[in-house]
Amino acid sequence: MNKKKIAVIMGTRPEAIKMAPVVYALKQRTADIETIVIATAQHRQMLDQVLSLFNIVPDIDLDLMRPDQNLNDLTCRVLQLMQKTLTDVKPDMLMVQGDTTTVFAASVAAFYLKIPVVHIEAGLRSHELYNPFPEEANRRLASVLTLIHLAPTSLAKKNLLNEGIKEENIFVTGNTVVDAMSTLLDAPFSFLDSPLKNLHLNQHRVILVTSHRRESLGEELRNTCFALKEIVQRFPDVMVVYPVHLNPNVRKTVMEILSDVERVALIEPVDYQSFLYLMRNAHIIVTDSGGVQEEAPTLKKPLLVLRKLTERPEAFNAGLSKIIGTSTNTIISEISLLLTDDKAYQSMIGSNPFGDGRASERIAELVVRWARNEMPLLLPENEFIG
Ligand code: UD1
Ligand code: UDP
Repeated sequence: MNKKKIAVIMGTRPEAIKMAPVVYALKQRTADIETIVIATAQHRQMLDQVLSLFNIVPDIDLDLMRPDQNLNDLTCRVLQLMQKTLTDVKPDMLMVQGDTTTVFAASVAAFYLKIPVVHIEAGLRSHELYNPFPEEANRRLASVLTLIHLAPTSLAKKNLLNEGIKEENIFVTGNTVVDAMSTLLDAPFSFLDSPLKNLHLNQHRVILVTSHRRESLGEELRNTCFALKEIVQRFPDVMVVYPVHLNPNVRKTVMEILSDVERVALIEPVDYQSFLYLMRNAHIIVTDSGGVQEEAPTLKKPLLVLRKLTERPEAFNAGLSKIIGTSTNTIISEISLLLTDDKAYQSMIGSNPFGDGRASERIAELVVRWARNEMPLLLPENEFIG
């Protein structure tokens, strides 16, 4: 039997984190499939941080990040380079993950070459075209071009059904981020060898912050920064730790307002294992990140989401997160509440609704069954319930 060739693509930090366990699981199934890892390197340094942590060396690296890149140029570069790459590699299937420009553009490139696309983390919807921008559109566009939709939760499956996607092409797997986390949370970690070693984490209540979304750049990000400045002034036992995304439009604002503020540690993006350590040792997590919204509930940390709405409402629906927007006053009052009211704090701790750590195993099984032409691709009793 000819082995089926499965191409797995990743461009940015979150895609690599969530694809890493899938790559591991696929690479164990060598009897049936050959796995080819393609990095667009839409992110360079932040992608490499993840690849090196998980010991993944891409078979092909398109190295296409440019400083302060714009979406149209980025899309063109992915399309052009993927035309050549897919024509050379001739995969039987392309696996994409999430909602980035890499995902959208690589899906178009594969579709034009009639290569079936499998979309991991399919079906998340905010139902507002411009929010998150451009991810809501990227995800919807990828769904149109996808043959097999791997929804992380039953809510995501419902969104796909509502758009007319056939049920037989949707499988609920859980989110692979839970798999990535559990692998690393079990691995040894040396704080003193980590980039965190100079932070006095255990002397403070730590508020861990990340914020980088395009729709929040400018005034909304400024509002967030002013709120954080006020919080450390009001609460002398509180420290803000903020790993600042490498997007220059994020860095400019954050550095302008928060450099040299006492008990605000602006640090470079840290490797994923160090970030997990930070999350575990945080008192509260404040973020506009997609992935962090899925991770905080797994670590049982109250989560405040710096967005007007979210395409990941599962944590909110379970009472584990609040969607607080980006007004300075609201951010101050919501953080203050959690710092002063233990009942409010404890009410936001529960169990993670996003996955059970077995998503990648399900995905590898599904791909192998597809390669063997076995139906259904995933037995209903093997799907994730959640
Ligand atoms: C991208 C994704 C977003 C995802 C985020 C994860 C799109 C349109 N956006 O946003 O969905 O949430 O990644 O972090 O796909 N840069 C570096 N080094 C890096 C990474 C970025 O210098 O390792 C700088 C570069 O100047 C780059 C800029 O950041 O041009 C923006 O990168 P880009 O991938 O276009 O957008 P993000 O805001 O990172
Ligand atoms: N993360 C990391 N180092 C950091 C900040 C975040 O490894 O300094 C991880 C985080 O745990 C999550 C992912 O990066 O898994 C989220 O990436 P990002 O916020 O860039 O993208 P999004 O999830 O919003 O698309």
